[in-house]
Amino acid sequence: MARNVVAIEGKGPLRGDLTVPGDKSISHRAVMFGALAQSQTRISNFLPGQDCLSTISCFQKLGVPIVQPSTTDVIVEGQGLMGLKEPSDLLDVGNSGTTMRLMAGILSGQSFFSVMTGDSSIRRRPMGRVTEPLKAMGSTILGREGGKKAPLAIAGTQKPLLALTYQSPVASAQVKSAILLAGLYAEGSTKVIEPHRSRDHSERMLKAFGAKISQSEEGLNSEIEGFPSLIGQEIDVPGDISSAAFLLVAASVIPGSELYIRNVGINPTRDGVIEVLRAMGGKIKVENERVVAGEPVADILVQASTLHGTTIEGEVIPRLIDEIPILAVAALFAQGQTTIKDAEELRVKESDRIAVLADQLRMMGAKVKELPDGMIIEGSQTLQGAEVESKGDHRIAMALAVAGLLAEGVTEISDASAVEVSYPGFFSVLTDLQQ
Ligand code: S3P
Repeated sequence: MARNVVAIEGKGPLRGDLTVPGDKSISHRAVMFGALAQSQTRISNFLPGQDCLSTISCFQKLGVPIVQPSTTDVIVEGQGLMGLKEPSDLLDVGNSGTTMRLMAGILSGQSFFSVMTGDSSIRRRPMGRVTEPLKAMGSTILGREGGKKAPLAIAGTQKPLLALTYQSPVASAQVKSAILLAGLYAEGSTKVIEPHRSRDHSERMLKAFGAKISQSEEGLNSEIEGFPSLIGQEIDVPGDISSAAFLLVAASVIPGSELYIRNVGINPTRDGVIEVLRAMGGKIKVENERVVAGEPVADILVQASTLHGTTIEGEVIPRLIDEIPILAVAALFAQGQTTIKDAEELRVKESDRIAVLADQLRMMGAKVKELPDGMIIEGSQTLQGAEVESKGDHRIAMALAVAGLLAEGVTEISDASAVEVSYPGFFSVLTDLQQ
């Protein structure tokens, strides 16, 4: 990734009517499940971000024909559950945790050997959370630090995996999905129990593909039967609420702003950002609610308003885990203090988002106190433009850009091309909305 620098300067309100790129989590899953289905899967509004392109390239190396008639249209020729081929080289997931963790589940059920690696961030991130339960299902996985860090080598097996009931210590859709995907290759039913509800895109989409999968009413238990026949689907990916979040916050805090963002996924396991912004006094209207490819979708109107501080903690955390960097920026411009707790997971994302955010926002003059599992942010702050670093983390780059729009003077963000991971063209979108 190029070590490039982007300069940000606030030029007034954000106004416009737009869509955001397709959902990252759903785009990954559409390619993966499409690869395991018995017929063709056609994906529209696919996110052409680096992470999802890594998923495509890994499945191509596993012998799955995948073409992109346009950047956002993908056709996957499914090979069936047992149709993947041994890759002759490393599978490179780039920066993508979802690719590595979900693929660890799929590859555990294959009869062949494979090795996954990725960039320096992915090689620092904890993989024991998936390799340990997968080993309990009979998978042989080796990796650095006793199988806890990538690269990961998966031996493959000639036998079905063992069905497992797994009480996950973390609310993580990546962990849950890895186990459910391995459960496709286990005889009987595999169950994951979570402490809080995590995103349920895997459950919704696997069901649409024909898997026997169920969720308990409160969403804490998910259960899948092994060896289903998956049938290819047409999937129109909703806009990513995690990408929309940067604009929802920017328009809330920049006086005079008004944005209409169409076709945004509002899955209840992902909509914590709307809940929290409203609790802070944000003016957000959710209109035209509908269901597309099994996912709730809506158009969102956001208008500038006076925000006040809040506490973000507990069960909502997994429902807005990727939005905390931008909610921290919202808190800087809200009246009063904001406390974020129970978010220690942020320390093992693409970067240690608590430490990096606190450090970089302080470079702009912000008063932020780091906690082991979150931060305390003083509101009504005046920020100064500064030279800040994304540390290669897409969501940090975008959060700093929004902070930069409200700072005095110019903010220069280095390693800014990290945004390509989830929101290609993000900086041009910001510029266009200011005109
Ligand atoms: C994702 C799940 C979340 C999220 C990540 C994408 C997914 O991670 O942070 O950006 O697609 O399943 P965890 O499930 O590990 O919290």
